Parts: sequence; structure tokens; C-alpha cells
Amino acid sequence: MLYTAPMRAVRVDQFGGPEVLRLVEVEDPRAAAGEVVVRLHAAGVNPVEAYIRTGQYARLPELPYTPGGDGAGVVEALGEGVSGMAVGDRVYVAAFLGKTGTYAERIACVARFVHPLPDGVSFGQGAALGVPAATAYRALVLRAQVKAGETVLVHGASGAVGIAAVQLARGLGLRVFGTAGSDAGAAAAKGAGAHDMFDHSQDGYATRITETAGARGVNVVLEMLANINLDRDLTLLAPRGRIVVIGSRGRIEIDPRQTMGKETAILGTTLWSTTPEEYTQIHAALVAALESGVLRPVVGRELPLEQAADAHRAILTDRAVGKIVLTM
Ligand SMILES: NC(=O)c1ccc[n+]([C@@H]2O[C@H](COP(=O)([O-])OP(=O)(O)OC[C@H]3O[C@@H](n4cnc5c(N)ncnc54)[C@H](OP(=O)(O)O)[C@@H]3O)[C@@H](O)[C@H]2O)c1
Repeated sequence: MLYTAPMRAVRVDQFGGPEVLRLVEVEDPRAAAGEVVVRLHAAGVNPVEAYIRTGQYARLPELPYTPGGDGAGVVEALGEGVSGMAVGDRVYVAAFLGKTGTYAERIACVARFVHPLPDGVSFGQGAALGVPAATAYRALVLRAQVKAGETVLVHGASGAVGIAAVQLARGLGLRVFGTAGSDAGAAAAKGAGAHDMFDHSQDGYATRITETAGARGVNVVLEMLANINLDRDLTLLAPRGRIVVIGSRGRIEIDPRQTMGKETAILGTTLWSTTPEEYTQIHAALVAALESGVLRPVVGRELPLEQAADAHRAILTDRAVGKIVLTM
């Protein structure tokens, strides 16, 4: 189907500060063979999009580009050969590994990156899945290989990845500890199901985690800011414990000996490394968790598309309370 009317999209013509995110009119996308055009109602804003926008990231798109891999909306057109969905379906887009550009009114997207959005899940919530919830699932299940009955510390439970991790971990039968740096963030994580919350901005919080964990210890740490916490995390772990490094913004010195006696492991993760098979597994699990109510993304802040620059400032500086989304 051919569209002629222009649409609005955020475009980056040069790498730089948040001000390089400009709202412009561009040609409407067309659904090529195997693609779906989605009219977007919401786009998720992720820290990685701010890193990429500065030009200081390992993988950079060609300029100019439209940021964003997460979004949700309604199917508007199907390209040749696409089956299994229909015009008018509510869907979420998780296109981080493919052609991105959800900071826009529409996106043409390879069909396998488009998934059903169950009834009762808002478009804003649907924009919190592709990067945050997929990362949380990948870290818990594919990297840490958690088992029911284990204790997980979600270190940074108030943000988008953290809240998804809390909910998924509860669904998997874990005891869930979380940290946050504000009362609002702690309340959001508690509302998502965390059994105990700790304040990572307060001295001595790690001692309180150890006391609360008791003899069972902490089996898994999902770490959102490894450059601050990794050395201390090693002291919290139970024997055979695992730390999954999800986020890090610098270097840190650790004591490797801490890993030896308890045979603990530090595991990295990045969504970029997701294989097609893992991608299928992750989104099957996320759709099931949405349908069952285990996964209920928390949208902390909605901004109109034209305020993408403000959203990028907030994602790196403000205390987190769930997901920041742009609305169209
Ligand atoms: N590896 C991957 O593939 C992947 C994928 C997605 C995200 N990430 C990374 O994971 C991190 C979280 O992403 P997000 O989308 O959840 O971001 P977000 O919504 O902005 O949340 C950031 C989280 O980090 C927490 N935090 C701040 N200071 C902390 C500290 N000293 N110790 C522990 N946690 C602290 C925040 O807590 P307060 O605001 O309450 O202090 C908040 O819970 C980011 O660094 C992001 O780049 C990596």
C-alpha cells in the first residue's frame, strides 16, 4: 500500500546533546514485502537511545536516523507475504535488533518484530517491553538461569528493566529484593511485587540486605549500575551465586578472590547478542506473562513526541519510577 501524506518523526542529523532530537515531517513509511506498518501511539525511551544519540556507543546508526526500538500501536498495513495478523490489531513493536525508529507516528517493521498486545495492556505499557522486559527476561532466565525458591536482588528495581525483572521473578517463584533511590521508586517496585526494598542512596544498605537474606543469602543479583556496585555485590552472594551485569557506566575495581571460595560468577548481558531463537522464546514468554497478568509494565511518565529531548534528559538524570514513554 502506498502512502503519500507526510508523518511526524523525531530525527537526528548529527550526534550530540538532547537538542539534536528534532521533530520533522518525513515521508510516510510503506510496508515492503514481509513488513508491517504500525500506527504508533507510544514509544519507549531507553537509556541506550541517549548513549547512541551522543555518538559514544559501540554500535551507531548511519545519520540521519530516527531513534527508538520500542513502541505500541495498531497495525495499519501488511506487506506481501505477512500472515498471522490483521489491519486494526493492537500490537507492540520490539525492533531494537532490526530497523529502528519508533519515535515517530508510524513505523514499517519486519513482521517478526511485531507482537500482539493483549487486551487490558495500554499502548504506553506496550512501549515498555522490547528493551526493558526482554532484557529482564534474558537476564533472569537465559543468563542467570534462576530457579524457583532462589533469592534475587534487583539492584535498580525502580526503573523500567527493574520493575519488569521484579514482576517476572515473582512469576517464576523467586524471593525478590529490590533497591531504589527514592520513596516513589521503592513504592513502585513494591507494588510490582518486591518482597523487601532497600535504598541504594543510603549508607549501610548492603548490610541490611545481608541481614534480611539470612542464611540463604542472595543467589542472583541483576545489576543496573555495575561500576558502582559490582565489588559489593560479590560480598552479598550465596555459594554458586550469579551477578548479571545489565548496566554499567564506567570502571570499577573488584576483588576477584571474592568469587573463588563461593564459586560465584559474573555474567554480562546485552540485548544485541539475542539470537533469533532466543528472541522468539523471550517474546513468547512476555506475551504469556502479559496475558496472565504477571507482567504489568509501570509507566511513570508520558511526554508528547515533541518533547523527546526532555525525555532524554530525564532518562539519564531523574530518579526512576518505571518507564518514560513518548505519546503520539
Ligand atoms: N544490557 C542490556 O542489554 C541493557 C538493556 C536495557 C537496559 N540496560 C541498562 O540497564 C540500566 C537500567 O535501564 P532502565 O531502562 O531500567 O533505566 P531507568 O528506567 O532509567 O532505571 C535506572 C535504574 O538504575 C537505578 N540506579 C540508580 N543509581 C543506582 C545505584 N547506585 N545502584 C543501583 N541502581 C541504581 C535507578 O534507581 P533510582 O532512580 O531509584 O535511584 C533505576 O532503578 C541502564 O544502565 C541501561 O542502559 C542494559
